[in-house]
Parts: sequence; structure tokens; C-alpha cells
Amino acid sequence: MKQDELKQAVARAAIDYVPQGIIGVGTGSTANFFIDELATIRGRFEAAVASSEATAQRLKNHGIQVLDLNSVGELEIYVDGADEITRHMHMIKGGGGALTREKIVAACSKKFICLADDSKLVEVLGKFPLPVEVIPMAQSHVARELVKLGGQPVLRTGFTTDNGNVILDVHNLAITNPVELEKQINQIVGVVTNGLFAQRPADILLLGTADGVKTMQ
Ligand code: 5RP
Repeated sequence: MKQDELKQAVARAAIDYVPQGIIGVGTGSTANFFIDELATIRGRFEAAVASSEATAQRLKNHGIQVLDLNSVGELEIYVDGADEITRHMHMIKGGGGALTREKIVAACSKKFICLADDSKLVEVLGKFPLPVEVIPMAQSHVARELVKLGGQPVLRTGFTTDNGNVILDVHNLAITNPVELEKQINQIVGVVTNGLFAQRPADILLLGTADGVKTMQ
């Protein structure tokens, strides 16, 4: 099966988890498949909170109401893809640059449902460069601090986040303790957040494989 077919299969499987109320929706190609599936059950749920401008636009294009996070209470579920995920449900996210808003919406949700094709399941995180969102004036300072942690930060050129910041993609990090590294990087002055989702891991992983969708929790 092609990767897009696996993404579509997990997106379809995620529909079973959609509650009647308000849903948190992630960003990226897998999340886009999910949004397109949501469009087929419009009316079965109330509205959505988007983790990026792109997601908000796609939801609206489908006629799905998009609410401001500050106008709603805790969400039942947040559904999003990942760049890498382990069996412990720790993830690297932010390949699409939406990590900060994704982490915020995830933090406001009772359950994080991760959708991934099986190429994303890894033993150890870090082959995918870790995205770090940084306040532009702190870019050099943060880069030096990331080098001290053993990484090789590379500025994502020509890219500005929805929050007006830059992304440093950090290569060659040995992420043996994702929970600690997430905290450590977030303590660097100038970092908005980093793409490790380990302190708040996924609750359910819908994994697309050639043998069908596997549910891990
Ligand atoms: C965007 C993300 C995405 O969830 C992640 O990059 C996976 O994307 P895709 O579903 O396109 O492979 O974190 O910021």
C-alpha cells in the first residue's frame, strides 16, 4: 500500500473516536485526510478547534465551524499526525511547523489520538530533525545552546510560523530521554516550544500498516 493510502485508512478509522462536541484538529497531510473524512460526517459533531491557519482554512472550506480555543472548555479529543512516534507514544512533531499551536490544543484535550503510517514508528526518536520554534532575535543564542546539547541546528529557510517565529531543525540529537530533553530545550531563553511531545504523549495510536489499521494505547 502507498503511504497516502495508509494515511487515508487511519484518518477513516479515527472517525470512530469523534465525539458529538468540539474536536481538536492537527496539521499536516495526515490531518488533512482526517479533515476530509470529518467533512463526510458534518452535523454529527459541533465544531472544531484548529492547530494552524492552514487547518482552519481547510475545515472552513468544508463548511465545518472553527472555534477559538479561548472560547471553549476542555476538548474530548485532539487528532493529529506525527513525524516520529515510539511505542511509549512519545513523538516528534512540527515537520509542518505548527508544533506550538499543536501542543497547545493537545494540552487542552482529554485524549490525543495520533494517526501515523508505519514508517513513522521508531525505536528511538531523532532521525527526523527536531523542530524548535524560536523568537527571531534569539535565533543565534538558541542555536548555540542547542549545539551544547549535542545537536546541529539548521534554520528552516523561507519559513515563518503562524506565530511569526522561526524554526530551527535540530539534527543528530540522541533522544534517549525525550521527557527530559523536552524540558531542557524549553528552558532555553528564546525557545517558544520544541517538537518533542513526551511530557504529554499520545493516548491512542492508529497505525496504518499493510495488514490494516492497528490500534496501540
Ligand atoms: C505539523 C506536524 C505534523 O503532524 C507532522 O509533520 C506529520 O505530518 P504528515 O502527516 O504530513 O506526515 O507536526 O506541524
